Amino acid sequence: MAQSKQPDTMEKIISLCKRRGFVYQGSEIYGGLAGTWDYGPYGVALKKNIEGLWWKRFVTDREDMYGMDAAILMNQNVWKASGHVGGFSDPLVECAKCKRRFRADQIIDKKKCTECGGTLGEEKQFNMMFKTQIGATEDETSISYLRPETAQGMFVNFKNVYDSFHPKLPFGLAQIGKAFRNEIAPRDFLFRVRELEQMEIEYFVRPSEWEEKFEEFRKEVWEFTKDVGLPKENIHELEVPDGERAHYSKRTIDFEFDFPFGKKELYGLAYRTDYDLGSHSKASTVPLEYFDEDTKERFTPHCIEPSFGVGRTMLAVLASAYTEDEMGGETRTFLKFAPAVAPVKIAVFPLLKNKPQLVEKAREVYALLKKEFGAVEFDDNGNIGKRYRRQDEIGTPFCVTVDFDTLEKDNTVTVRDRDSGIQTRVAIAELLERLTKLLG
Ligand code: GLY
Repeated sequence: MAQSKQPDTMEKIISLCKRRGFVYQGSEIYGGLAGTWDYGPYGVALKKNIEGLWWKRFVTDREDMYGMDAAILMNQNVWKASGHVGGFSDPLVECAKCKRRFRADQIIDKKKCTECGGTLGEEKQFNMMFKTQIGATEDETSISYLRPETAQGMFVNFKNVYDSFHPKLPFGLAQIGKAFRNEIAPRDFLFRVRELEQMEIEYFVRPSEWEEKFEEFRKEVWEFTKDVGLPKENIHELEVPDGERAHYSKRTIDFEFDFPFGKKELYGLAYRTDYDLGSHSKASTVPLEYFDEDTKERFTPHCIEPSFGVGRTMLAVLASAYTEDEMGGETRTFLKFAPAVAPVKIAVFPLLKNKPQLVEKAREVYALLKKEFGAVEFDDNGNIGKRYRRQDEIGTPFCVTVDFDTLEKDNTVTVRDRDSGIQTRVAIAELLERLTKLLG
C-alpha cells in the first residue's frame, strides 16, 4: 500500500481541518482576523487530549508539581520587572510608500518593499505585547497587557504556593493557558499566531542542581513527544547560542520539528536562573525566597522552564498524521493519529440504515462502547464506504460494523483498522477487552 506526503501538504491539512471541523479561520464570516484560529468540535477534542497527556505526565503523575491557573491580566509592574516592557520585541521595518510593515529578520531585501517596490525605512524594535486599559480611566496607571507568556503568573505566585504547601526544593508550578503576541507577520496556520495556548512549567531548584534537573526535563520533553505520537526522526535539538537566547536564559535547547514548511521550533527548554524571582523580589519588595530547614540558609531558587505550545503540538501531530494512500482503487486521505490523541476512538455503524434490526443492534453496541470509551460516534449516514472515509479523515482508529451475520449467525461484529483497512470479526462479548487492548 503506497503512502505519500506531498509538497502541498499544508494546504491539504488546512482544508481537511476546515472541512472536517478541526480548525476554522478566526472571525471568518467577517473576512477573518489574521493570526487567530477557532477550534471546532474535533479540534477542541484533539487539543484537550494533548493537554490531558501533558497534565498527566507533568502534574498528576508526579509528586513535585503544583498545578495553577493564573489570571491573564496582570499588574503592569509584572511586565516591567520581567523585562517584557523593555525587551519583548521583534525588529520591524515599514515601507515609506504603502506603509506595510515587515519583520526585518524574515525578509531578504531589507531596502525594497516586496509588495509595492517602495523604500523600506530604518529598522525599529516593535514590542509584541498587546496593551490594554483596565477600568474606565485611561491614564498611565490603568495600562495592562495581555500576557505574552503564562510563566509570569507562576513566578508571581511562587510565595503563595510556597506558603500554602511548604514544598521542599526541587518543586515546580505548571499551567496551561492562553498567551498573546502581536506578531508582525502571523503565518503557517497554527504555527505563528497572535493568540496562542501554552503548557509551561517553572521548576525551582537549588543553584547547584540546575544542570541535573535540566537533563531530566530534556528527557521528559522527548517522552512527551512519544505520548502524542510524534516520530522521533522529525524532532531535532538545537542548542541556542549566546546572543540568540531570550533575555532571561543562560541556556536554552529548542526542540525543532520538521514541519511541512521547514524545520522550526516546537518546544523550548530554558534555564532561567534566578532572573525572574530575583527581579520580582526587587521590584515588588516581597522576598521570593526559599528557606532550607537543614542548613538554615535563605536563598532565591533558580528555575528550569520547559515550555510547550499547544497549537504547535497540534500542527506537528496533524502534519505527522496526514497520509494519503490507495485503497479500493481510490486515493484515500487519513489521519494516522495515535489513539491517545484521536478525537474519536471508535465509530459504530449499522451496515444499512433502513434495516431497523441492524440499527437497533448497532445502537446497543454503541451504548456499550460509549459507556466504556467516551469518545465514540454512531453513524448511519450515507453508505458504509463514505462512513469509513469520513472516519479515516478525522483519524478514528477503529470502526465497528453491525451486519447481517451479527443478527443471523454469530453475534460478532467487524472491527476495521484505520491504517490497513483490514476487518476482523470479533464477538460482541469480547469487544470491550479487544478494543481496550487495541487502543493501548
Ligand atoms: N515562557 C517562555 C516563552 O513563552 O517563550
